[in-house]
Amino acid sequence: MLRFPGRGHRDPGDVVIGPLDLFARVDEALAVQALAFGLDSEEIAVRRQIVLRHMVYRGARALGATTPDGRLVGFVYGMPNDRTHWWSTVVEPYLRAQGNNDWLDDSFVITELHVHPRHQNRGIGRALITTITDSATEPRSILSAIDTDSPARGLYHSLGYTDLARQVFFPSAPRPYAVMGAPLPLRRR
Ligand SMILES: CC(C)(COP(=O)(O)OP(=O)(O)OC[C@H]1O[C@@H](n2cnc3c(N)ncnc32)[C@H](O)[C@@H]1OP(=O)(O)O)[C@@H](O)C(=O)NCCC(=O)NCCS
Repeated sequence: MLRFPGRGHRDPGDVVIGPLDLFARVDEALAVQALAFGLDSEEIAVRRQIVLRHMVYRGARALGATTPDGRLVGFVYGMPNDRTHWWSTVVEPYLRAQGNNDWLDDSFVITELHVHPRHQNRGIGRALITTITDSATEPRSILSAIDTDSPARGLYHSLGYTDLARQVFFPSAPRPYAVMGAPLPLRRR
């Protein structure tokens, strides 16, 4: 467990980063994601099924950021990439077109990373993603993020992720994504 005192102007509390049973706490996690990322109730219901399915994939694991009174305020989950998984099949042609197809092998995928808006910008997101990737046996990590200048993209760049493909369209997602990859362990400040 990693105690994380925070450094923001809001009351930091004492957030702890540790293993998360995402099966048991999927609704709390999706409540955080809904606030952080913006999901309506229909999207939450769809995501719920996806998250529960992901959790049975080989090597899938999750970490949570929890306040002293037990509230989940952030989470990350991911798994070793598998070329047969839906996400991988969507990004594969885009990566291939850029000569980056081999990033889909021996990579740990960050599937979701979200921090409750009241707890953002205190280092919790950075702690979640570095801690989960530190325990990966793969030499690299990949993920997708909305292709815009966001805090998420800023964080990923600062951790050593670079763009492997841009303007990647997922079926039913209105906005294009960037696929990013970084060598592991992630870069420290
Ligand atoms: C992305 C997210 C998880 C980051 O979590 P966080 O706890 O706020 O991030 P941290 O405090 O650990 O890291 C902050 C880093 O993000 C980046 N960042 C934060 N705010 C930023 C901003 N307004 N513009 C650019 N970069 C910013 C910086 O690189 C910053 O690093 P620094 O500490 O050196 O300044 C969080 O902002 C979030 O939940 N966003 C909404 C959901 C989302 O986009 N999730 C990712 C989906 S791909």
